[in-house]
Amino acid sequence: MPRPVVYLPKLPSRTLFPAECVLFYDSVLASKAAFKKWAAKFEHSIALKSGESLKTVDSFNQVLKKITKQNISQTTQLTFVSVGGGSVGDFVGFLASVYLRGRGLIHIPSTWLSAVDSAHGGKNGLNFEGVKNQVGTFYPPEKVYVCRELLNTQPAERLCEAMGEVVKTAVLFDKKLFADLEKQNKPYSNSQIWQRLENLVAHKYAIVEKDPNEKLGLRRLLNLGHTMGHVFEAHYGWAHGVCVLLGLEFAAAWSHQLRILNKTDYARIVKMVKKMKTGRSLTEALSGLNEKKVLSLLQKDKKLTGDSTLDFIFVKSIGNCIRKKVSLNEIAAEFKRQKAL
Ligand SMILES: NC(=O)c1ccc[n+]([C@@H]2O[C@H](COP(=O)([O-])OP(=O)(O)OC[C@H]3O[C@@H](n4cnc5c(N)ncnc54)[C@H](O)[C@@H]3O)[C@@H](O)[C@H]2O)c1
Ligand SMILES: [Zn+2]
Repeated sequence: MPRPVVYLPKLPSRTLFPAECVLFYDSVLASKAAFKKWAAKFEHSIALKSGESLKTVDSFNQVLKKITKQNISQTTQLTFVSVGGGSVGDFVGFLASVYLRGRGLIHIPSTWLSAVDSAHGGKNGLNFEGVKNQVGTFYPPEKVYVCRELLNTQPAERLCEAMGEVVKTAVLFDKKLFADLEKQNKPYSNSQIWQRLENLVAHKYAIVEKDPNEKLGLRRLLNLGHTMGHVFEAHYGWAHGVCVLLGLEFAAAWSHQLRILNKTDYARIVKMVKKMKTGRSLTEALSGLNEKKVLSLLQKDKKLTGDSTLDFIFVKSIGNCIRKKVSLNEIAAEFKRQKAL
């Protein structure tokens, strides 16, 4: 199957979309003139307020009502187009996967995080009772249009949020990319990330294609930094990319402690996390938590098995990571060790 991603300088021509489309977009984009002009070419469009509150059963219900009111023809060609960051993509992806038992889906990511990560790979989800992505499906989009002009409209802090996934990808698969990051004295600029985007995204597809529905465990590798990252995100509400960086530092420290990772590469990872200037540190993240809270948050991890173990991703060297089954108690013990340092 060919990869669905297309890189474009500007938003794609309306002629590239099926005749029957519903455009869903982040309402912040309505203030951008070029986007507004482009969106006007779609007969049906629905603005969404982005964020975690969009990814809820309540807002799902409200949007379904809006679709019904718009009198949209329910043919098999009907396609949902999402323009926005990860929250809009996750919401519209889920909607497309269940509406009339599945309709067409096209993503146009508008944040660097979504361009690097969430628009690719077919995962979507709604949050339920405080648990992220508790309800969701695997539903790959038919196309992902990655448009430079749209991505360049973001404020600088969005770039920093994407750097978590960028550093994660480098540590997982690409020591050359890691060395390239080391040469910069700060996170990438818009044009630097754009130049590296195709390579970054290709690493994700290489794994997803081998294990699209996360059945073989290979896709788990992409979870590097996310086990503790999700604990920090749920506890503090800090940005996902920031928590992934801190989770990655935790994973590297544990890998070093177990003598899987040598001192030099460990120190390079710690330095890299600092360079991303998230405004947060691993020490701060660990100090505001206790073992009981960590265990209760880990219990909600979707990757948890029946025997209270999960695949934790350890770093062997920069560009080479491994999966290893660990128990929740082992993670909690390591949390305690690192917190006491
Ligand atoms: N499905 C997956 O595989 C996957 C992977 C990683 C993250 N995610 C999900 O992605 C979400 C986080 O992604 P995100 O940070 O892109 O989320 P987001 O959609 O909440 O966007 C972040 C902020 O950027 C704003 N924004 C979007 N585009 C903009 C633009 N062009 N200019 C100015 N502001 C803009 C939004 O209004 C919002 O305030 C989370 O819900 C996370 O669970 C999903
Ligand atoms: Zn992530």
